[in-house]
Formats: sequence, structure tokens, C-alpha cells
Amino acid sequence: MSGDGAVDRSGGSSGTGSIGAVPGRPPAANGELMLRTFAFPADANPAGDIFGGWLLGQMDIAGASLARRRAHGRVATVAIAQMTFKLPVFVGDEVSCYCSVVRVGNTSVTIDVEAWARRADGDDLARVTEGVFTYVALGADRRARQIPK
Ligand SMILES: CC(C)(COP(=O)(O)OP(=O)(O)OC[C@H]1O[C@@H](n2cnc3c(N)ncnc32)[C@H](O)[C@@H]1OP(=O)(O)O)[C@@H](O)C(=O)NCCC(=O)NCCS
Repeated sequence: MSGDGAVDRSGGSSGTGSIGAVPGRPPAANGELMLRTFAFPADANPAGDIFGGWLLGQMDIAGASLARRRAHGRVATVAIAQMTFKLPVFVGDEVSCYCSVVRVGNTSVTIDVEAWARRADGDDLARVTEGVFTYVALGADRRARQIPK
């Protein structure tokens, strides 16, 4: 994983569920704020809008952060499902990723990730993208390991 944006951990440590105290939290957002960053010109596609791969990467980082906490250690992304790009992201938008645990298996944890954009030209908030990310807990040998209950 890699990312060039600032990571905001101010969402607290309460796991899944709503957090009333996060500044700027959209009322309809589900989950915990795991990452907040800005869309830079370098993240745009040739048409000038933000490249979907960049956004997917931010969501992967955000989901992995929560998965790692739930798995008590290192995780690797094994699957990404139900990615829906509902609205475009523009250069200058503030992008926030909200995450919630939807399933914990033997070695895997599945995280629902919502990306929200606060438009640079105002205070409008929009849920721009959603996806379901599955991570596998890895041991020191890089093989799947059991997740503590
Ligand atoms: C992660 C990895 C070690 C798992 O290998 P494995 O042990 O043979 O995988 P398994 O088939 O036993 O599956 C392990 C878990 O992942 C889940 N899983 C595997 N494929 C999945 C898929 N397509 N969708 C959802 N879950 C999946 C399995 O259900 C299982 O979960 P459970 O133990 O909770 O039931 C291996 O796939 C790997 O190294 N992948 C590359 C990871 C990586 O580099 N990610 C970054 C990509 S840039």
C-alpha cells in the first residue's frame, strides 16, 4: 500500500458504528473515518477528473487500516467486490473514507468502505464510491493465519 495524502485518525477507536464527534462527518456516512486526504492534480486522468485507480487505492488503504486493527496484525488485500463509482471526484476535493467491518472469518476480514467527497468549490458532500474489500491476516511466513475472536 502507498498513499500521498495525510491520514486523519481523529475518528477514534470505537470500531464500527457511528461517531458523532468527527468534524465534517456526513450524517448518512456509515462506519469509522479511517482516512482523509485531498485529490491533487497529479491524481487526475487525462480528462482532468480524478483517476478511479487513485480513489480505489485510498479506499484500500483505509479498509486495510481497520482490517489490520481487527486482525491484530498484518493483512493483505485478497479481493475487492461491488465497487461502484457513483459520482466523479474532482481536483481539490477533500476525500474521506468511512469503513465498517461486515464479516470476520477464520483468516479473513471483510470491510465495507464508503468514499465521500467534500467539493472544493463549496461545502457540498457526496458519497462518490463504495466497495467491499476483503483482507487476509498474514503471519510472519506470509501465509494466512487465524484471526483472534
Ligand atoms: C492472501 C493469501 C496468502 C491467501 O492465500 P490462501 O491461504 O491460499 O487463500 P485461501 O483460499 O485459503 O483464502 C484465505 C481467506 O481468504 C478468503 N478469500 C479468498 N479469496 C477470496 C475472494 N475472492 N473473495 C473473498 N474472500 C476470499 C477465503 O474465504 C479465506 O477466508 P476465511 O479463512 O476467513 O474463510 C494469497 O492469496 C496471497 O498472497 N495473495 C496476494 C495478496 C496480495 O499481495 N495483495 C495485495 C495485492 S496488490
